[in-house]
Order: sequence, then C-alpha cells, then structure tokens
Amino acid sequence: MQPSFIKDKYPSGKFSIALGKKQGTICQLDIPEDPILQDKLLDAIERAANRLIDDNLVVQYYKVDRIQGVEQLGTGMLDQSLLKLPKKPKEADGWLNIAVLEGVVVGVPPGPVVASTGQIGKIVLEREFCSVNAGKKARKCDIILKFRVEDVSGDDNGSGSVDAVSEDVDYEVVKNAMEPLLKSEIRMPEGLQLKGILEEADIMEAAKALKIDAEANANAETSEEAKGDDEMVVNAFEVSGKIDYNKLVDNFGSKLIDPELLKRIERLTVGRGTVPFLHRFLRRDIFFSHRDMVKICDCLEKNLPFYLYTGRGPSSGAMHLGHLVPFLFTKWLQQAFQCPLVIQMTDDEKFLFKGVYDDENGDNLDYFAQLTVENAKDIIACGFIPEKTFLFSDLKYVGTMYPTIVRIWKAVTNNTVNGIFGFDGSSNIGKIAFPAIQAAPSFPASFPVVLGTSKESANMACLIPCAIDQDPYFRMTRDVAHKLVPKSHPLGGKPALIHSKFFPPLQGADGKMSSSDENSAVFLTDSNELIEKKVKEYAFSGGRETKKLQEELGANLAVDVAYQWLRFFLEDDEELENIGKDYSSGSGKYWSTGNVKARLVDVLKEIVSEHQERRDKVTEEVVLEWMKERSIV
Ligand code: TYM
Repeated sequence: MQPSFIKDKYPSGKFSIALGKKQGTICQLDIPEDPILQDKLLDAIERAANRLIDDNLVVQYYKVDRIQGVEQLGTGMLDQSLLKLPKKPKEADGWLNIAVLEGVVVGVPPGPVVASTGQIGKIVLEREFCSVNAGKKARKCDIILKFRVEDVSGDDNGSGSVDAVSEDVDYEVVKNAMEPLLKSEIRMPEGLQLKGILEEADIMEAAKALKIDAEANANAETSEEAKGDDEMVVNAFEVSGKIDYNKLVDNFGSKLIDPELLKRIERLTVGRGTVPFLHRFLRRDIFFSHRDMVKICDCLEKNLPFYLYTGRGPSSGAMHLGHLVPFLFTKWLQQAFQCPLVIQMTDDEKFLFKGVYDDENGDNLDYFAQLTVENAKDIIACGFIPEKTFLFSDLKYVGTMYPTIVRIWKAVTNNTVNGIFGFDGSSNIGKIAFPAIQAAPSFPASFPVVLGTSKESANMACLIPCAIDQDPYFRMTRDVAHKLVPKSHPLGGKPALIHSKFFPPLQGADGKMSSSDENSAVFLTDSNELIEKKVKEYAFSGGRETKKLQEELGANLAVDVAYQWLRFFLEDDEELENIGKDYSSGSGKYWSTGNVKARLVDVLKEIVSEHQERRDKVTEEVVLEWMKERSIV
C-alpha cells in the first residue's frame, strides 16, 4: 500500500496486490483475463470496501516494539514507507503503530487515525488508473487499485480521530485477527458473490435442481442409500461427495466392463496388430463402464464402419491432466481401429452456462470462441491421426448439424430436459436447447461432408469415450435416436459409450479434478517446478504420520493421491505393482510418501513437457486445418 495523500479535495491512495508469477497462462492465484470479468472483480472490491465502511467497525490500534512486532507478525503488514528504516534510525523508529480489525492487520504511519471504519467516507475506485494485469503477455499477475475517498464524515481538523495507541499489545488477539487473511479461502460475502458470477452460479443452480430431481425420481430406497454416501452427486455440472462407481452404474443404468468384454476388446484391438497392448486405462479399470460396447464389438467383427465422437467445453485457457484422460484413450481407440473421429468444442455451451453480459461492454461470447482455439491446440497435441480427425467449434459448424438438431428438438420435451439437467423456467432458453447440440454429433447425418452421405455412412455406428459425468446427455440422445437414422442402423441409432472414472484432484482421491481450484489441478501449461511444488505441497497422502507408524501399517493406497495418479499415468504395470507393495507395507524403495511423490513428479514432468513440446508446434494455421470441413473416411 502506498501511503494515502490528500490531493485536491479528496484523500487518495494506491494499493497493489501481487498474485504471483505466471506459469503458462495462469497465476498462482488466478484472475480472469476477460475485461468484463475483470470489471466485475473491481466492482466486488469496491463494494466490499464500502460495506466495511457501512458496518462501522471499530479499529484497534497498538504501539509495538518494532523488532518484536515484526518477529511476531511478519513484514507483510508494512508498506514501503514503514518497511525501510532510515540510515540513522531515531528512537521513534524503534516503534510501529499497527491497526487491527477483523481479518486485517496493517502498519500505519504516525499521526491521527480513525476510530472506526464509519469515519472513512465513500471509497471510489479510480477505474482509469486501476489495472488487472493478467493478459496473455503478462509475466506476473497483479491488481493495482487507485482509490479516492469521498464524503469524509470527520471534519478537517480530524475530529472523530484518535491518536494511537495502546502499548499493551496482546499478540494472540492480533494473530487471531489475521487468521482469516492467512487462509486462502474467500472471506468476504462479496468475494463469494463474485465467484458465483464468474464461475458457476448458473451451473450450481442447475446441479442443485438436478440433485433434487434425481432424488425425487429414484425410488425411496435408492435415494436413501445415495444420501448415506457422503452425498454423491455426479452429473454434467457437478461431481461431489464420495463416488461409488458401482452404484453410479446402477443409478445410470450403464454396464460394468466385465472380464469377458475386456478380452473381446483385447482381441479386436491388440489382435489386429494396430496397438501393442490394451491401454492402461482398460487394464486398470479406469475406463470401467459402457453402453452397447458389445454391439460395437459386433460391428467390428462384421467389418461394419463406425466412428468415434468426443468433445471438450472450453471453459479455461489451460486444460488439466483430467481432461487428458478421455483424449488419450480416444487416441488409442483411433489407433487401434484406424477409424474416423469427430471432436466437438462446445464454446456455445460454455457461454450459455458461464458467459456474462454487461451493458457497457456487451457479452463475452468471443472469449469462449478464442478458448476453443487454445484448447484445440492441446487436443491436437495429443496426437490423433490428422487425416481421420475433424475438430469443430459449435459456433462455426452448427449450421451443418442444424437439420439433426431440429429433429432432436422435435423429439425431446422440455420436461425431459428439465428432468435430466435440472433446468427450470428461470434458465435461459439456450441452456434448454443445448443438450440437442451435444447430442447431434452422435448421428452421422451431422457430417455429410466429413463422413459422407452414402447409405453406408448413414448407418455408421458411433462410439463416445468420455468420463461418466457426460452420460446424461447421451441417455437423452439414446432415447430418441431411432428417429434420426435409417431402420437398418446396427444400434438403432443409439450411440455407444465407454465411460471413465474421474482423475482425482490433488486434495483427495475421491472427487473429480476441475479447473476452478487451481491448486487442485495440474495444468498442461504448468512448468516442471510448479508441478513439483503442487505435488509435494498439495497431494493428499495416504501415508502415516510417523516413520514408525508407516513402517508398521504402510500407506492407505486408496486415498493416496500420488499413488492414484500413478495408476493413471505410469505405463509400467510391474513398477506400479512394486510401488504399491512397498508403499502399502512401509518397506523397500517406495516405503514413504516422499519417494512415491518424487516418482510421480518424474512421470508427470515427462508427460507434460513432451505435451508442451508438441503443443508449441501447433500454430493457429494448424488448428484451422484440423477444423476444415473435409472427408475423413
Ligand atoms: P469438459 O470440457 O468438462 O470435459 C472434457 C472431457 O474430459 C472429461 N473430464 C474428465 N475425465 C476424467 N477426469 C476428470 N477429472 C475429468 N474432467 C473432465 C469429461 O468427461 C469430458 O469427456 N460438455 C462437454 C463437452 C462435450 C463432450 C462431448 C464430452 C461435447 N460433446 C462428447 C464428451 C463427449 C464438456 O464440457 O466437457
């Protein structure tokens, strides 16, 4: 904080908040790149400051011994003017005045100070001098706030102000006041409100409604059981609670991949000589559930043509390791079957669910269109077969799919969509229309040029690899599918699905990694140093508290994030087994969390840096080539 000063008629000041170095496209603390969202951030800060003034909070002042004060509280509370001591310090420089109110502790220069926040006046951010430094080229992220204070209630000679200060400082009280500041949680109601606006207000609303609806629809017994399950919620908008995948399969009505099916898949993939072995995601039960995979195997055996379809909703510039799971698996399937693949980028979806509109600046639809290009680079870097892959943005390609979309709209009622997705009368109409747009690529008619319009291609079956959260879209699709294909279609038009479990967040092996909590995810843009820091600092450990206990009991692998992540990304089965044995028995090379984490860091560094190398070669021109409507059969 730069000291406030009186300029013209208003006191004013400048305040800057450093949010850390940028790693790829993200900061240690993330702030939005989009100017409309940045404006909302400044609004929230201004609102919060003025609410603190309206609350008229009493400010406590203490005069403390400088050395002792800094020792106890750190230097974070001091601005530049207080931090630097003059070359020849005077006796007065040995003291510090500190102001304390809940959640805030700051050093203040000597002189009169207000007794309570109500005397401050109205805070106005001087927008033209405020900046949020988070753009693509920024090296560091920071927010600079210049503000002035209007309507000061005290008069010029400082009535209402007090002269510091009590010397009788209770450091425990001061530290308690600082406590909320030190937790990286959102403390202010305005912050929570902002988070809602920026991220998932709409999505959460829909998810909540969906949960209620799902519970109402399920029979009483199942719904009672579901509640006991630490409130498992899995749908396209929310994944939370302890996930019981067997129960999920029961609730959703899909099927587990059993050993017999796995053998059949192995015969039809490895047996063709196109891939050397079953993908580790199949070997380790990570892709674990399916719909009509047996019929896809039938098609393969009869040499009937089929295509793969998957997608991504570009909600952030950087994709995380969890997003790699379906794409890496799809790549393997394409390699195994040498088949066409279409990849949908739902920029429309993300705008409908997360976009904002502002009277002054308009909306941010273009922002999501740009994210499509950024995410497309990551997807291309996964290594699909270029001449057999078509990547498309809904915003650009939707016209060609339109007849299919209209047919789906005609076949699905509002009640069905509301029942599956939890929308209601307050949801924007785009959200209600959207499920048909995600459904459309399941039908070959959406790709007259890309898949061709022959009789044979109209009967092409479709297989969708995705995590199980996307299943609700395709339940809806499968219900109306017969209306969209010729009668001779081998699956009656229904797309087949193969579902994965969720790649868990750093904080616990139970949930789903998501982009909204940056410290819960490793992004494909993270540097080696950042990956190491995230894994070492945040990965939840199933190891025991002391060496002795670890040697006695071994680690709990089921909850250990480092081990679970190795299950997703370490290729060598034998090594994984050895790590599991050592770690769960607290003996051998991998007896400790530290050693397991170190191995994981090596594995991730290799995967992410190789990915980054490939991504660096993907220019916007390359993206355009992959997005060109052309035949891929
Ligand atoms: P999106 O962008 O949320 O996710 C893209 C794909 O990644 C999967 N996924 C995960 N898989 C494993 N672990 C995780 N932690 C994890 N997080 C996300 C998703 O299941 C998805 O497969 N509406 C979709 C975009 C879409 C789509 C599709 C996805 C359009 N058409 C067809 C799959 C299939 C979306 O927003 O995905």
